[in-house]
Amino acid sequence: MPPADFRIASDRNKHPILEVLLKVLPEQGNALEIACGTGQHAQWFAQHLPGWQWLPSDVDADALRTTDARLATSGLPNVLPAIALDVMNTSWFAGEPPKPHFDLIFCCNMLHVAPWEACAALMRGAALHLAVNGRLITYGPYFEDDVLAAQSNLDFDRDLRATNARRGLRHLTDVAREAQSVGLALHARYALPSNNLLLVWTHHRTP
Ligand SMILES: C[S@@+](CC[C@H](N)C(=O)[O-])C[C@H]1O[C@@H](n2cnc3c(N)ncnc32)[C@H](O)[C@@H]1O
Repeated sequence: MPPADFRIASDRNKHPILEVLLKVLPEQGNALEIACGTGQHAQWFAQHLPGWQWLPSDVDADALRTTDARLATSGLPNVLPAIALDVMNTSWFAGEPPKPHFDLIFCCNMLHVAPWEACAALMRGAALHLAVNGRLITYGPYFEDDVLAAQSNLDFDRDLRATNARRGLRHLTDVAREAQSVGLALHARYALPSNNLLLVWTHHRTP
């Protein structure tokens, strides 16, 4: 389960994230949320994107229980019970084929709390499960080659690495390289409050 400060952050960042989702998403579609945590985002986005069916998932059993408890009282018709999904698994869904496809795969604040290998795993799974015109959206703090790192991000990175050397903020160029290797490309970058980025990834378009 994410600690309390992640829960506070979720309540804060859901507003600017929703503003971008309303800009970049069509009226309707189906979404898979990776690393749903407490389900705060699932509830908020399902409520404010009524044309979307939202499927939350997480690797952590407590996160799934908390999400389902939250959603059970929400009365929202467009959000499904949370499913267990570890991005590191070669196969994200049991019983394939058929392989489910999503118009949106949304992953917020996971890349820096998971080992680096989770980035390649996320990109691989997204490339397999995104619909043709689908979007992978990742959100969180990143380092960028040509942007001076904010002190808050440097401090956060140091704290993450102090608790677990395999955690830490990721470099956007490294993330983009993993995306590229499975046929995804960075389509749009939005700078959001508190030095976070919302990144939209799509399948490569051949000219
Ligand atoms: C910081 S919390 C973010 C929760 C939520 N997305 C948010 O922004 O509030 C990180 C989440 O990543 C999940 N996670 C970590 N490794 C994962 C993996 N390999 N596959 C799926 N989820 C993972 C954790 O269980 C946790 O719920």
